[in-house]
Amino acid sequence: MESFLDLERRRQSCRRFSAREVERETLEQLAEAVRLSPSACNSQPWHVIFATGETAKAVRAGVQVDGSNPFAEGCPAFAVLVEEPAVLKPAVAEKFGSQAFAQIDLGIATAHYCLAATDLGLSTCVLGWIDEAALQKALGVSPERRIRLVIATGYAEAGAAIREKARKPLSEIADFRD
Ligand SMILES: Cc1cc2nc3c(=O)[nH]c(=O)nc-3n(C[C@H](O)[C@H](O)[C@H](O)COP(=O)(O)O)c2cc1C
Repeated sequence: MESFLDLERRRQSCRRFSAREVERETLEQLAEAVRLSPSACNSQPWHVIFATGETAKAVRAGVQVDGSNPFAEGCPAFAVLVEEPAVLKPAVAEKFGSQAFAQIDLGIATAHYCLAATDLGLSTCVLGWIDEAALQKALGVSPERRIRLVIATGYAEAGAAIREKARKPLSEIADFRD
C-alpha cells in the first residue's frame, strides 16, 4: 500500500487536464474528504460548490483574471470553497478570537481534498488567483460570504510525469529540540 508520504509526493498541481468528465460519485467522495476534515471547535466553517457543465463555464471565467490560470479552460470540474462563520466555543473565541481559524480550517480541508483526489487517481490545482466578486455573482454567493479558494479538479493529461518537489530543505523549515 502506498505510504502517506508517497501520496504527498505524488500530489502535484496539475495544469494540463484531459477532457474526461469527473463522475458524480467521485465528486461526492471528495465532498466526504472535506466533511471529515478537522476544524477549530469542530466548527466546520465551509461550504463547497461543485461546478461541472454549465456552472464550470462560469467558474472558468472567474478563475482567469488578467491572464491567470489559462489551463482552467481545459479543466472539467471545480470545487469552490466558501467560508462560513466559525462558531467557536465562547472561551476559545475570547482567548484565540484573533486567529483566523476559519481560514486555517479551509486550508486543512483543501489539503484533505487534494490528497483524497490524488488517492482516487485525479489531479488538482488550488487556485487562489481568482476574481472573487465575479465568482460570487455567477454562483449566487452573497458578497459577505467569502470565496477563499477554487480547486481545479480532473484527470491529468496522459503521460504527465511526477515532478521532483521544489521545496526548502528540511533544515530550513524545522528544528528538533530536546
Ligand atoms: C493557497 C494556494 C493558492 C494557489 N493559487 C494558484 C493559482 O492561482 N494558480 C496556480 O497555477 N497555482 C496556484 N497554486 C499552486 C501552487 O503554485 C503550488 O501548490 C506550489 O507551487 C507547489 O507546487 P505543487 O503543488 O505542484 O507541489 C496555489 C496553491 C495554494 C496552496
